[in-house]
Amino acid sequence: MGTSGDWSFETLAIHAGQEPDPTTGAVAVPIHQTSTYAQDGVGGLRGGYEYSRSANPTRTALETCLAALERGAVGLAFASGLAAEDTLLRTVCAPGDHVVVPSDAYGGTYRLFAQVLERWGVQHTSVDLTDLDSVAAACRSDKGPTRVVWCETPTNPLLGLADIAALAEVAHEAGALLVVDNTFASPYLQQPLVLGADVAAHSTTKYLGGHSDVVGGALVAADAELGERLRYHQNALGSVPGPFDSWLVLRGAKTLAVRMDRHCDNAAAVAAWLAERADVAAVLYPGLADHPGHEVAARQMRRPGGMVSVRLAGGEEAALRMCERARVFTLAESLGGVESLIEHPARMTHASVAGTALEVPADLVRLSVGIEAVDDLLADLDQALG
Ligand SMILES: Cc1ncc(COP(=O)(O)O)c(C=O)c1O
Repeated sequence: MGTSGDWSFETLAIHAGQEPDPTTGAVAVPIHQTSTYAQDGVGGLRGGYEYSRSANPTRTALETCLAALERGAVGLAFASGLAAEDTLLRTVCAPGDHVVVPSDAYGGTYRLFAQVLERWGVQHTSVDLTDLDSVAAACRSDKGPTRVVWCETPTNPLLGLADIAALAEVAHEAGALLVVDNTFASPYLQQPLVLGADVAAHSTTKYLGGHSDVVGGALVAADAELGERLRYHQNALGSVPGPFDSWLVLRGAKTLAVRMDRHCDNAAAVAAWLAERADVAAVLYPGLADHPGHEVAARQMRRPGGMVSVRLAGGEEAALRMCERARVFTLAESLGGVESLIEHPARMTHASVAGTALEVPADLVRLSVGIEAVDDLLADLDQALG
């Protein structure tokens, strides 16, 4: 085997940061369930660890692995995706600054900008990220400079695509950082830092964890200096994951590549099947040739992902009925686990953005296509649609 510098994604996922334990030879990274570490004399740290908010060996293994998977300099793990976002924004913004946010994004992210950071004195402008001129026009250099252009691609729940390389140029021209929420794609399908972004953000609750059994978040910085500033704030703000949650995400990451390939196979089959139905008004899936972001997806993603959204011809009533009748698809929030989930964004995950520019249509149903047998998934959707 070569050095980690030339290992491919699948190998890094299993080995980066995960050397066998030097004292016991344990192949699986131990869960270091400890808050503190004995010192040999004042300041005499044995392995560099002093207190688990600052660092913990299980979390270090996960953070090293995440940095390798995103091809970044520094990886950091958090207690949730929103904790990661909050720490990032409070590291790079100060009261009086400005951020550009997408007009289509996860509702919780928008709530953080609109309800929390706004009160802290950080203003935002929401724009359509596919319109690069509007993004450039929204960036400010004078009073309250723009520190961050926030990008989510594909978006939750409308599966919109943004061109990461083009946005990086616009953001950098304006002196801002480009941050990409890479939750929907996962680092296996898309690597924002390689495309020019400064930070990749994740809800590791989703594909990285992969089994709907943990809530977590991550940041990976392309640049070591920015990474160390983020690390300082990770400790100063303190929203870190515990050792067991870190271990669950690390275990999930090992199988990310094989799971994502199966998610993509199943999602492509589900999207093609739904596109043929008269009771479906539109299928939103970047793998379909009529998706407006199809070419961008083909350029910057390995495959189009495991998420499919549909708009039903029968409107909200039909959407609610489909959600309630599905059986293999479990009616639940979240996504990215091995099991298929179905939800009604307007009343569930995106209820917090009702009445804002980010409101989502009531006839929309979001599917997180799992890795079950595809025939069972299609049969379930058939009976759910009636
Ligand atoms: C795209 C995206 N980003 C961020 C988050 C927030 O992550 P968490 O729920 O882990 O705080 C979510 C949660 O659904 C999400 O879908």
